[in-house]
Amino acid sequence: MARIIDGKAISQKIKDELKEEVARKKSEGKNACLAVIQVGNDPASTVYVGNKKKACAYIGIDSKSYELPEETTQDELLNLIDKLNDDPKITGILVQLPVPEHIDEDTIIRRISPLKDVDGFHPMSVGALCIGEKGFVSCTPAGIIKLLKYSDIDIEGKECVVIGRSNIVGKPMSLLLLRENGTVTICHSRTRNLKDVCKRADILVVAIGKPGMINDEYIKEGAVVIDVGIHRKADGKLCGDVDFESVEPKCSAITPVPGGVGPMTIAMLMYNVVSAM
Ligand code: GUN
Repeated sequence: MARIIDGKAISQKIKDELKEEVARKKSEGKNACLAVIQVGNDPASTVYVGNKKKACAYIGIDSKSYELPEETTQDELLNLIDKLNDDPKITGILVQLPVPEHIDEDTIIRRISPLKDVDGFHPMSVGALCIGEKGFVSCTPAGIIKLLKYSDIDIEGKECVVIGRSNIVGKPMSLLLLRENGTVTICHSRTRNLKDVCKRADILVVAIGKPGMINDEYIKEGAVVIDVGIHRKADGKLCGDVDFESVEPKCSAITPVPGGVGPMTIAMLMYNVVSAM
């Protein structure tokens, strides 16, 4: 029987620690305010943005919401970012992705000051991570490292396989595992013999975006399996990229969906916001 890594409990612990740190920093006269921008009304984005604002309120920091209509132009959005970059009261800026198609995501990400880039998406933040300098780290992969550490799972010297090479998860995940002295392999849609590569993994991070694709045939006995995927099935229930039923009996530890990686993303966003105070 695998250990179920409880992301909800670990994220709660982190938020409670941050709440204390915020109180301490406030008593020293420091403050934080997260600006959260949403363009359009994608229902999933509305839920995520609401949860981010709730987390700010929970740990005791201000947030300011900017709910812009779908037809907002790129220039209007850039002007708002410029204004927030220049506002000393705003310590973090987040533009919820995806943005509507007429807006170029990369242009938006690059416009946010790296000093306020609490998502860790700016090329300066990614570059800092790449060369081992201080900077904001993308929240989902940073949360996965925390999950492993809170669960006393050593990374050093382990075979770590990451499936997925996105800028938000796969690439920063690989860099973070490397920083922890893991031996890292990155797999993607063109990887040959994916099963064989995955079967080498002591730690397998799955961010492939395909519901239930990774079954027990991809798993080495006793591996740690981290599932980044989240999908809604026809019956309304949530599932990940990992076929939990077949994989769980074979691994030593696994994250569930929901309640694994998901809650950690917001906890680490709060971590980034507090570190900017
Ligand atoms: N959309 C999905 N995940 C994220 C995230 O972590 N940050 C932002 N800004 N948008 C997202």
